[in-house]
Amino acid sequence: MKENIILTGDRPTGKLHIGHFVGSLRERVKLQNEGNYKEMLIMIADMQALTDNSGNPQKVRDNIIEVMLDYLSVGLDPEKTIFFVQSEIKALTELTMYYMNLVTLPRLLRNPTVKSEIKMRGYDNDTTGVPVGFANYPISQAADITAFKANVVPVGDDQLPMIEQTREIVKSFNNTYNEVLIMPNAKIPDNKVCCRLPGTDGNAKMSKSLGNGIYLSDTKEEVKRKVMSMYTDPNHLKISDPGNVEENTVFTYLDAFCTDEDFIKYLPEYKNLDELKNHYRRGGLGDVKIKQFLNQVLEGVLEPIREKRKYYEQRIPEVIEILKLGTAKANSLANETLNEVKHAIGIDYFNEEFLNEQLNKFSK
Ligand code: TRP
Repeated sequence: MKENIILTGDRPTGKLHIGHFVGSLRERVKLQNEGNYKEMLIMIADMQALTDNSGNPQKVRDNIIEVMLDYLSVGLDPEKTIFFVQSEIKALTELTMYYMNLVTLPRLLRNPTVKSEIKMRGYDNDTTGVPVGFANYPISQAADITAFKANVVPVGDDQLPMIEQTREIVKSFNNTYNEVLIMPNAKIPDNKVCCRLPGTDGNAKMSKSLGNGIYLSDTKEEVKRKVMSMYTDPNHLKISDPGNVEENTVFTYLDAFCTDEDFIKYLPEYKNLDELKNHYRRGGLGDVKIKQFLNQVLEGVLEPIREKRKYYEQRIPEVIEILKLGTAKANSLANETLNEVKHAIGIDYFNEEFLNEQLNKFSK
């Protein structure tokens, strides 16, 4: 029997880029098409996005459909996958409230991802000024995962601390009340470079503010321009110079994207990436040539995505309807779990069991 429940999600704070693609979207499509699951759910985490965009809700609003278009264009399929919006699932907020009693404040602030995000926002190690909702988001994420009894959570490695936190909550809840919640497992990409694809400038993270990302919705021309200006080996000045492939972003992207078939198609003088790397290391291979190859490889991936995006951009009412229907389904699944959770804690009152208990108590 198919037992797996797969759940993952993204913050709607911008269009998705090729880092999201190799880090998670590609894996989701694969899982979806393998079909070995009872339920597959993808959530647009708008409440979580608000935890660090409270002053800019318009940004969140503007990106709901953009992210849906990204999902649909990479091949996530509403016939197979349930898409939903987090804020419409009231059970998530309620579950969060109950789980908050099971986690200490220092434990939240020790979360490595939260810690580095606190630093990024300029709070250093002084947590004064950190909004409660922001520090609390790992608990809310535990609600996202457990509400659907997900056991498989495909994410990038930056999300491992969130899954760890969720596992602790599941253990604590089941020990304290009753065995209701399911223990989730993270599923991260096998290929290490896919976990965090650097920006085109070699910077560790692809981000809108740094302007170093390649987006799934970029045009052919934009992609080409970005690829041709990518960071390579700064010491590889002449074609004949030996080059470094290790911190060379073009090779990092090739590691993440290219296949042996790409060599047959575009660069038949090499058998595979190892041969290409060896030539670059020896010297005699120019940056323009490897960039042109990368551009062809990326186009092979991005062109069909772009086509599908165009298709759905012309069908926005349909896209909204997909999200609405998915949200209704997600609501009924999450409400079932919420009822079980309330029953396990013993805070369900308007049923036969409670009535009889109270009648017994007061009839003595
Ligand atoms: N924290 C995730 C991110 O920033 C988004 C997210 C929210 C999520 N809830 C989730 C991912 C539940 C997986 C499961 O990308």
